[in-house]
Amino acid sequence: MGNVFVLDHPLIQHKLTYIRNKETGTKEFRELVDEVAMLMAFEITRNLPLQDKTIETPVVETKAKVLSGKKIGLVPILRAGLGMVDGVLKLIPAAKVGHVGLYRDPETLQPVEYYIKLPSDINERELIVIDPMLATGGSANDAIHSLKKRGAENIRLMCLIAAPEGVEVIKEEHPDVDIYLGALDEKLDEKGYIVPGLGDAGDRLFGTK
Ligand code: PRP
Ligand code: URA
Repeated sequence: MGNVFVLDHPLIQHKLTYIRNKETGTKEFRELVDEVAMLMAFEITRNLPLQDKTIETPVVETKAKVLSGKKIGLVPILRAGLGMVDGVLKLIPAAKVGHVGLYRDPETLQPVEYYIKLPSDINERELIVIDPMLATGGSANDAIHSLKKRGAENIRLMCLIAAPEGVEVIKEEHPDVDIYLGALDEKLDEKGYIVPGLGDAGDRLFGTK
């Protein structure tokens, strides 16, 4: 069964408060999302497997640890997922990055896929799907189905803020996917916005509306 991890590190909680605040402008919002993404990446990679490697320090030959196991691929969901990619790449600079373009139809709240471009070896990679918001779960669910259809086997999902409704959808549809959150909020409102949430992540990141 996929697990849900709320990464409630004090720095993540502190920065999320400023991200949520409607007085926070685009520049600061972007910087904070980048910082929280980096902090979350640190937590998410905590259990990556290691192997011994023999090296020579200037003093002596020794065995030291290097990462082993599958290479990592990041898959931001356009557009708002883009705001978290650089933060993760600061810690995992060699990760390949695929993109899934989805938007949520404002009437039906159903995801509409308009773009997909992935590394050719996704089946050999540990994929981290990235989206700041997990609301109804429709977008992330669709993106994960798309990745699985194309051969992906190891997938984790990383979101700044989720609603319980979205978490339930992913747990139900993708019990193999671990979910990493900065915060698990109360509920969705009648327009499908997360409460208390942060508003529209894409608009706040890119200064649109
Ligand atoms: C937002 C957000 C998620 C989606 C979450 O994207 O970035 O992708 O909504 O909602 P869901 O869980 O109900 O599917 P949006 O559709 O606003 O597109 P954008 O990123 O291009 O702004
Ligand atoms: N998408 C967003 O950007 N914000 C929400 O609260 C829900 C979906």
